[in-house]
Amino acid sequence: MIGPRSTDSLFQRHAALLCPQTLLEIRAQFQLDWWGYHGVEHWSRVLENGLTLCGEVPDARPEVVVLFALFHDACRENEHRDPEHGHKAAALAVGYHQRGALPVDATGLELLVEACTGHDKGLVSMDSTIGVCWDADRLDLGRVGIRPSPRFLSTAAARKPEILENCLNASLRGEFPRRLSWGTPEPCL
Ligand SMILES: [Fe+2]
Repeated sequence: MIGPRSTDSLFQRHAALLCPQTLLEIRAQFQLDWWGYHGVEHWSRVLENGLTLCGEVPDARPEVVVLFALFHDACRENEHRDPEHGHKAAALAVGYHQRGALPVDATGLELLVEACTGHDKGLVSMDSTIGVCWDADRLDLGRVGIRPSPRFLSTAAARKPEILENCLNASLRGEFPRRLSWGTPEPCL
C-alpha cells in the first residue's frame, strides 16, 4: 500500500514508542517465556496486524495500537486463563504515563486503558481504535491453532478475507516482523 497510512510510514512515524529503555524494563518484569505464545513475537505480529488495519481504518489511532501491542500481554502470569492481566497491563501503561515516559495524550491513554482492560473478554468494539487493537490480537490466534472467526472481529477491515488470511499465515509461520525494533536481535530458540 502506498500513501500516508501505509504500514511502513505509520511504523516510522511511531517507532519511537518502542523506546529501548521501556522495552528493557517491560522484558525485565515479564514473567513468561519471552519467546512463548504471549511473548515478543506475538506482540510484533499484533503490531503488524494493527498497522495493516490502521491503513484501512482512517479513524484508528496508530500510536495507541503500537502501545497496545507492547503492553496488552506484558503482565500475563500464565499462558492460559489470566483474567487480571488486561487490568495489570492498563495499570502498567498508566504508570509509565504518570512518570512522563509514555508520549500519548489523555484521550489516547483512555483508549489504551480500555483496549488493554477489555482485550480478553470476547467483546467487539464500535470504537475504531479499540476495535483495531482487539482485531490485531485476534488475527494472531493461528499461533495457538485457532482460525479467527469474523464474528469476533470488530472491524470490516479485519474481516476482509485477504487480510484475515495474510495475518493467519504470518501467525502460522511464526513471523517476527520488525525484529530489530523490538530490541531482541538474538534468534528465537
Ligand atoms: Fe495478545
